[in-house]
Amino acid sequence: MIEEIQRIVGRDSVLARPPDLEAYSRDFSDFREKPILVVMPGSSREVQGVVGIAAREGVPVIPRGAGTNTCGQVVGRGLVLDMTRMDRILEVNRRDFYCRVQPGVVLDALNRELEEAGLFFPPDPASSRVCTIGGMVANNSSGPHSMKYGTTRDYVLGLEAVLATGEVIRTGSLARKSSSGYNLTRLLVGSEGTLGVITEVILRVLPVPRARGSRIYTFDSLEGLRRAVDGVLDRTAPAGLEFIDDICLKALKQRYGLDFGDAAFLLAVEFHGGQGWVDRQLEMVGELLGEGVEAGDPWRWRRNLVPALINYRDGARPLAVTEDVSVPVSRVCEAIGKVKAIYSSGGFEVAVYGHGGDGNLHMRVFAAHGEEERVRELAGKVYDYVLSVGGSTTAEHGVGLLRAGYMDKEHGQAMEVMRRIKKVFDPAGIMNPGKMGL
Ligand code: LAC
Ligand code: ZN
Repeated sequence: MIEEIQRIVGRDSVLARPPDLEAYSRDFSDFREKPILVVMPGSSREVQGVVGIAAREGVPVIPRGAGTNTCGQVVGRGLVLDMTRMDRILEVNRRDFYCRVQPGVVLDALNRELEEAGLFFPPDPASSRVCTIGGMVANNSSGPHSMKYGTTRDYVLGLEAVLATGEVIRTGSLARKSSSGYNLTRLLVGSEGTLGVITEVILRVLPVPRARGSRIYTFDSLEGLRRAVDGVLDRTAPAGLEFIDDICLKALKQRYGLDFGDAAFLLAVEFHGGQGWVDRQLEMVGELLGEGVEAGDPWRWRRNLVPALINYRDGARPLAVTEDVSVPVSRVCEAIGKVKAIYSSGGFEVAVYGHGGDGNLHMRVFAAHGEEERVRELAGKVYDYVLSVGGSTTAEHGVGLLRAGYMDKEHGQAMEVMRRIKKVFDPAGIMNPGKMGL
């Protein structure tokens, strides 16, 4: 099989040495599994050839971008397709507000290129320096500003995908509007490599906002945070509404020297738009909450929050077993309290932070070696809670292996339909098996 694949992609684009396989045995989750082979295709035709061989041999195919995903989406025993060689920006069209890219394009690189045309692609995960568009599409990625702009799903106009059946399909169009046929584009967004390999993407893009403005506030209690969030959401229209708790604040102080005293919560409110509008929004927030505190560029340290948490405590790792869940926005502060209560009932410290305007909570539970199982039990309670209030087990990080066991609970009979759809795209079940409970 190796030689046949080498003939398709070239000798240098197949990695089979043990250290390479070791490097590809992981992503940003705790899951580990060595692939059989790593292949770096250079074109959609090469992907088709490689997938064809894998289908014939019955070997799993695991498409992979930068591997910054957090739930084991790209870990598995199979043929890892590293898509990062396909990193060309094929077209930027200012007049029609779209761009066409290969899946291996890095998000920040795309935005640098778009900026020259006064445009940007809004979804903004913290890993923007390295994460790829293909990975973002496969996981429906988002970040702090999805409150205003929506998630990756809202920007994919169409794509090309290679299926395990050998078919190459193009979905969608270059046009903003279409009501033609089943929406296969949306089906493939967030499919985590379980339906096919994405080889090209058409993305809608927006003009860069003319002005931005933000304010930061601290609160002594969850009740204080709740009143502030309710007030801000009532009166203004932020682009982002970020909160972090006292444990995150301590970790940031330890790592970056940022000192917010003994605050229980921090809230950052950000507005994007025309200068006059942004100024008025800031004024309204000022009337509601006062001047706020100075903290430099909040995004600089916010993006490095997870590394700060990882280094925060000796002897306890911040486990990401329930790391991103969502609830209806009106319940976000209730959910923060609930999550803290669930983990502290087991004697665990939990850092909670997230994108408040989306009802999106992130959390890291500090646990010593050997305590993982107990944390996983409590994680089940957190998932039960979010589902009981109409939320979801994952807001932006996807299912992968981590949430696979909860898919039936979350989707009920609809999960059976997903299983049947999977069979249509991938009858032999070779596309990223086991992920998403499929
Ligand atoms: C964040 C990533 C972890 O919000 O989603 O920092
Ligand atoms: Zn996030």
